[in-house]
This record gives sequence, structure tokens and C-alpha cells, in this order.
Amino acid sequence: MGIENPKLGFGQAKAKRLFEEISLFLSHTDVQKTSYAYNESMSVLKRYIQFTIDSGVSALELEKRYQELSNRYGFDMQEAGSRVMEMADVYRRVDSESSLHFLCSRHSIRSYEIRPVEKEVMDRVLSIAATSPSACNRQPCKVFWTNDDACTKRISKLIPGNKGFEDAIPNWAIIAVDRVMFGEQECLQWYLNGGIYASYLVLAMHALHLGSCIFQIPISWEGIPGIREIAGIPDHYAIACAVGFGYPKDRVKCLCAARKPVSEYSIQF
Ligand SMILES: Cc1cc2nc3c(=O)[nH]c(=O)nc-3n(C[C@H](O)[C@H](O)[C@H](O)COP(=O)(O)O)c2cc1C
Repeated sequence: MGIENPKLGFGQAKAKRLFEEISLFLSHTDVQKTSYAYNESMSVLKRYIQFTIDSGVSALELEKRYQELSNRYGFDMQEAGSRVMEMADVYRRVDSESSLHFLCSRHSIRSYEIRPVEKEVMDRVLSIAATSPSACNRQPCKVFWTNDDACTKRISKLIPGNKGFEDAIPNWAIIAVDRVMFGEQECLQWYLNGGIYASYLVLAMHALHLGSCIFQIPISWEGIPGIREIAGIPDHYAIACAVGFGYPKDRVKCLCAARKPVSEYSIQF
């Protein structure tokens, strides 16, 4: 639905399968009919059926299944399907100069005021970071985070790259990715999706004047079981990285971390 000239009737088999998946999902007794997965699936199917009919293709079976589920369970319509954007309008509001300043002024921060980032602030950060792209919009990441003093101290001891400033980080976020969402052929996709999300998270923090530093957690790092236990991260969630964050001190020392010139990493072909 998001491309200019879609093949007419394309996607019907996938839509049928999605109805089957929804029925299976709803057959679980503990399932939440208010969940994002259910509302989003139903909304997309509604738009898809309309789109198919508008293209002059019959979608009778899909309509029937949609009506059955919708009459029985209802759902909250989301903004689904596609919409037309006037790119001139979009870019009018993107001030290139301040955008460049925003991107170039982010630095990893390793020196913070020792105070918690409030839940309301973090909720805002997370709602911005959720705009990160992900494979098929699967949104496989969960952020396990803490602003609790005792918890942060315990996590700090288990992070491999913070030696010398373990006590300087007052809030931690662990980015974990649901591996179950990726099939055999996508075995490293969780890592890629987690990395892209991490970028959005630190930029969202920067936008709200919070400092951050990403820390890698090697795959067989001995601290992983402890981090999982403290943060309550289930086994099927792989840990992509940890992010230390908080309100930066008024004056902070940061690495200059000069970048390679474009000529050294750009290979035009
Ligand atoms: C995946 C990843 C892992 C990192 N691990 C650490 C780390 O263990 N300890 C640390 O102090 N900084 C870590 N950093 C921060 C980098 O040192 C930093 O991003 C880099 O030097 C560039 O500096 P800048 O972020 O200030 O632009 C990591 C960054 C990334 C993206």
C-alpha cells in the first residue's frame, strides 16, 4: 500500500494468514484485546480490504472474516494504511542548520548529575525513540530501564566498558530485542534493529537535553545473567547494548573522537 503502483490484488494470501494469526492470538485466554498487535492488525486489514476493493479487486472472503472479528471483539482503529505527504511541507519544517547542529552536538557523556531521570521524561524519550525504523515495523525492542539508585549501582558493576566511572552513571537503559520475532534467515536482524533503535534512543535523549553513552555488551559477557536478573529480561530477549544516561553536569569533559574523512569511508561504485 505504500508504493506508487502496487500489483492489483497483491497481498491477499498474507492478509488471510494475518486473520488466522489474529484468531489464534485471540484464542489465548490471557490475550489483551486492547493490545497494539491486535488493534494495529485489524486496522491494517481494514485499510487493506478497502484498498483492494477500491482497486477493483474482489475481497469477499477477507471482508467476511474482518466483519466476524470486528463484530465480535471490536477494536480501536489506528492510523493505518498509507497517506500522501507533501514533502515540501515536511522539509519546510526541517531547519537544516539546526538539524545539523543537533546531530553534530551529540557526544557520549560520561559525567552526570547524580539524580534520577523522572518517569514522565523517560516516557517522552521512549515515545520519540519509538519512531525508529524497524524490519517490517516489527518494533522488536524493549527498553528495560532504571533510575533507582541501588539498581543503577548494581547494573554499573556488570557493565564491561565503564571502568573508572562506574559510579558516575545515575540511570541505565538496557536495549533488548525479541529474537522470537526473527526467523532462521534473519539470524542477525535483532542486532541490527537493536542498533538502529539505540541511535534513535540517544538522539531522543539529546533532543530532551539528556546526556547518554552507549555501552556494548559482548554476546558471551559474564555479567549478562546478572543484568537479566536485576532488570527482569526474559531469555528470548537478546541484549543489544546498555545506555547510561542522565542530566549532564554543567561542564563535562568529552572525547574529541574525530571522525574519518568521508574520502576514507565513501566508496562510490
Ligand atoms: C556500540 C557502542 C559501544 C560503545 N561502548 C562503549 C563503552 O563500552 N564504553 C564507553 O565509554 N563508550 C562506549 N561507546 C561510546 C563510544 O566510545 C563513542 O560513541 C565514540 O567514541 C564516539 O564518540 P561520541 O559518541 O562522543 O561521538 C560505545 C558506543 C557504541 C556505539
